[in-house]
Amino acid sequence: MFLTHLSLTDFRIFSRFDQDVPLNSLILVGDNAQGKTSLLEAVYYLSTLDSFQASNSLDLINFSALQNDLAVCRIVADFRKKDTDHHLEIRIIKDTNSNGNNIIRKEVLLDGSQQKINSVIGTFNAVLFLPHMLQIVTGAPQLRRHYLNLTLAQVDPTYTESISEYNKTLAQRNALLKQLNERSGDVDQLSYWDEKITQAGAYIIHARIQAIKDIGYIAASIHQELTRGDEILRLNYLPSFDPAASPPGQIELPLENALDRSGVELKDIQDGYREKLLSTRSEDIYRGVTSRGPHRDEMRYLSNGIDLGNFGSRGQLRTAMLAIKLAEVNWLNEKNGDCPVLLLDEVLAELDDTRRQDLLDRLAKAEQSLLTTTDLDLFSDEFKRSATQWKIKNGGLTN
Ligand SMILES: Nc1ncnc2c1ncn2[C@@H]1O[C@H](COP(=O)(O)OP(=O)(O)OP(=O)(O)O)[C@@H](O)[C@H]1O
Ligand SMILES: [Mg+2]
Repeated sequence: MFLTHLSLTDFRIFSRFDQDVPLNSLILVGDNAQGKTSLLEAVYYLSTLDSFQASNSLDLINFSALQNDLAVCRIVADFRKKDTDHHLEIRIIKDTNSNGNNIIRKEVLLDGSQQKINSVIGTFNAVLFLPHMLQIVTGAPQLRRHYLNLTLAQVDPTYTESISEYNKTLAQRNALLKQLNERSGDVDQLSYWDEKITQAGAYIIHARIQAIKDIGYIAASIHQELTRGDEILRLNYLPSFDPAASPPGQIELPLENALDRSGVELKDIQDGYREKLLSTRSEDIYRGVTSRGPHRDEMRYLSNGIDLGNFGSRGQLRTAMLAIKLAEVNWLNEKNGDCPVLLLDEVLAELDDTRRQDLLDRLAKAEQSLLTTTDLDLFSDEFKRSATQWKIKNGGLTN
């Protein structure tokens, strides 16, 4: 997969940006606050239609454009996927109505025809590394779930649909649980929501089990190379309940230690989840919320058996995250039959010389990568010769 052209209008600091993109490695160099990370954010947006940085789409629209009642931010790209050229246009539109309220909507056009957002996610594939992504390892569990969702959405449209179905059903089930807690509502209705949530939830759990196992396997071998055999990385999936139905009378296994559930069939996970919802029904009514399901899943990263989320050094966290990102590239390539574009923000800082050189050697072999830096000296001469450089200044290119 190659990004061949990028055009931005009123995206963050970029009022107007229009460039052909080289097919090899591209180094975006510039001082702080010139737009390097924003450019990667725009490219990543093409694959997920979501920003890893902004919680509100409004933040993506250029500040001056936002002053107008109607503001339109555009990310437009040409890309080549499996030898076919595509044109993708994303518009984020802010309309201020007569009451002064902002209404935001997104429009997506793929090859000239308007599409639903969910159906376009994953058409363009990218893998993004940002320094603050270390929070995926160290931060709250919802960051890990969000990351998993974005990653899986790149290969499986049914996963994306299941997530939106699950979230809608969860809200409905929780509303009913709250009513039941307040002694109103009809308890028989719970079975309806249980069945719906079981179907979407089981699909999510099944997909997460496989993805974590596969990415974990590839990441462990890359990580071993990056650490010259010193460390063994492990990704542990800890679902909020044991996804395999336990036979009656059998005590459930504790989940602090990850279980290999990769052989469990989707139907068995559905049965197990249904059973769990029934057995926790009174607890759920008492609390007024659904206590088990993918919205409570956890994932941990271990190096030599030590939990990096709690005990990882900065360098260790960075190396682990890099191994996972590079593993994602291979995994997406396996799944989609096409190599994603790799986006690396300030990736070389904080790595020791050996790890830096190992990474550059790998990148030289990658199909297309976009890297940002404030300091070109971090790159080897050999890499600089093989790459294109863009000097970024105040939301544009300079000489
Ligand atoms: N919606 C927006 N409109 C205009 N400017 C914005 C918007 N959002 C962010 N900015 C500004 O864009 C500038 C560039 O941000 P960006 O993070 O891309 O810089 P950078 O080149 O990666 O810098 P650094 O080297 O410090 O990481 C920042 O000053 C930021 O405040
Ligand atoms: Mg930056």
